[in-house]
Amino acid sequence: MRSAVYSIVAVLLAYQLYTIVPLIQRAVTVLGVFRSYPEGDVGTKQQVTSIPDTTHCEDLHHHIPSGLLFTACEDDAATRFQWFPPLGNLGNPEVAAKSRGSIHVIDPKGLESRRLKFENFDGAFITHGIDVIDDPELPTGQAVYIFAVNHLPDPTPILEGKEAKARSQLELFHHTIGTDSIKHIRSIWHPLIRTPNDVYAQTPTSIYVTNDHYYTGHSVMRMLEDVYYGAKWTDTVHIKLEFLSPVKTSDAGVTASVALAPIHNNNGLGHGRSEEEILISQAASGVLHIAQLPFKGSTDYNITISDTLEVESVVDNPSYFSDPLATSPVDDRSGFLLPGISKAATLAETSRDPAGKDPVIVYYVKPVAGKKAQEWDTSVIFEDDSSRIRSASAAALISLDKNRARLFVTGFVSANVIALEVDL
Ligand SMILES: *[C@@H]1O[C@H](CO)[C@@H](O)[C@H](O)[C@H]1NC(C)=O
Repeated sequence: MRSAVYSIVAVLLAYQLYTIVPLIQRAVTVLGVFRSYPEGDVGTKQQVTSIPDTTHCEDLHHHIPSGLLFTACEDDAATRFQWFPPLGNLGNPEVAAKSRGSIHVIDPKGLESRRLKFENFDGAFITHGIDVIDDPELPTGQAVYIFAVNHLPDPTPILEGKEAKARSQLELFHHTIGTDSIKHIRSIWHPLIRTPNDVYAQTPTSIYVTNDHYYTGHSVMRMLEDVYYGAKWTDTVHIKLEFLSPVKTSDAGVTASVALAPIHNNNGLGHGRSEEEILISQAASGVLHIAQLPFKGSTDYNITISDTLEVESVVDNPSYFSDPLATSPVDDRSGFLLPGISKAATLAETSRDPAGKDPVIVYYVKPVAGKKAQEWDTSVIFEDDSSRIRSASAAALISLDKNRARLFVTGFVSANVIALEVDL
C-alpha cells in the first residue's frame, strides 16, 4: 500500500518536473539570465543619432498620414527612478504628484523633437503607453486623438508602514497636426483599469487597455508573477466611452469589460496589418499574440488570438511596419518590430539606479514569403549593451528607399530616442 502511494507521488513529481523544467529553461533564456554583453555583432557598426529632449519616452508611434512620430516622455531624468508603478517602484509619491511629462512630436527627417504645450491640462503626468489615431471626423492627416496612460499616485493618505499606491488612469488629448499645442479632452478611469501598461484605440470611443500585473509594489508574489509563466493573472480590458466631453469625473460615461484573459504579464499593444488586427505582447514570456478585434460598431468587444510567436527576449510594445514600396509578396519588407530589454533578470536592481545598465534587443519578424502566415523569419535588427541606448520599449521603422529604412528606438529609461539606418 505504502509503496503504491510512493509510486504515485513519484509519478506526480516527475510530471511536475516534466512540465516545469521547460518553463524554467525558457524563463532563463527570455530574461537573459546568462546573456552577456558586449555581444559585438548585430548593430555595433551602425551609426546612431540621439534625438535631443527625449528623456524616458516609453512609447513611440508612427502616424502614417502625417509622417510624424509621437511619443510620451517623462522629460525629467529624476522622476522615473523614484516612481514608476509598472516596475513596482512606488518609492516617492510626492515627486510623482509634481511630475509633469509631456507628449512630443518627432520629425523623422530632421530628427528633432518638439514638446507640445498642454491646453486645458495642468495635473501631474507620469507617462507610459500611448496610442495615436486619426480624428475620423476630419480629413485624413489633419488631426489626431492621443490616448495616454498616466500613473498618478493614489491621493488617499498612506497608512503607517504601508507602501504607496498608484491610481493610474488614461488621458485623452486632441492635436491638430502642425500646431504646437495639444488639448486635453478628458481623463478616463474604471475599476478594471488597475495596472495599465498600454492602450489601443479602435475608434475615439472604443479602446483596449492592458493590465501588466496582478500584484503591485515590491513583493515576492510579484517576482513570481514575472518569472513563472503559469501565472496568467493579467488581462486586456475593453473600454467604451459614451461621450468624450464635457465630463466632470474620469469615470463619467465609461463602461468596461474583460476582452482577453487570462494572460501572463500582458504588456504592449500595437496596430497590425488590418483595421481589426491587434498585436498583444506578453512581456516576460517573450510572446507576441496576433489577434483579431470584432468589426467597428459591433457590440461584442472580445479579442480572438489568431497567431502566436515567440522570441528569445522580453517583448515590450510591438508595432507593424507596412512597406510602402512593396510591389509583390517577394519584395515586401513589411514586418513586426519587437523591442525589449535583453537582461530583464537584472531589472529589479537597475530600475531604481540612474547609473544602471539595461541592454536591449529589437527583433524584426516577417512572414516567410510564399509560405503560410504561420512561418516566420525572425532576425535581430538592433542590439546594444546599453551604451547607446538604455532600455528599449518601443521601435518604429520608416522606409528610406528600396534597401534601407530608418529605425527609431526608445526606452522607459533611455536618455534619448535614437535613430539609425538599417538595411532591410
Ligand atoms: C469575453 O472574454 C472574457 C475573458 O476571456 C470572458 O470572460 C467572457 O465570457 C467573454 N465574453 C463573450 C461574450 O464571449
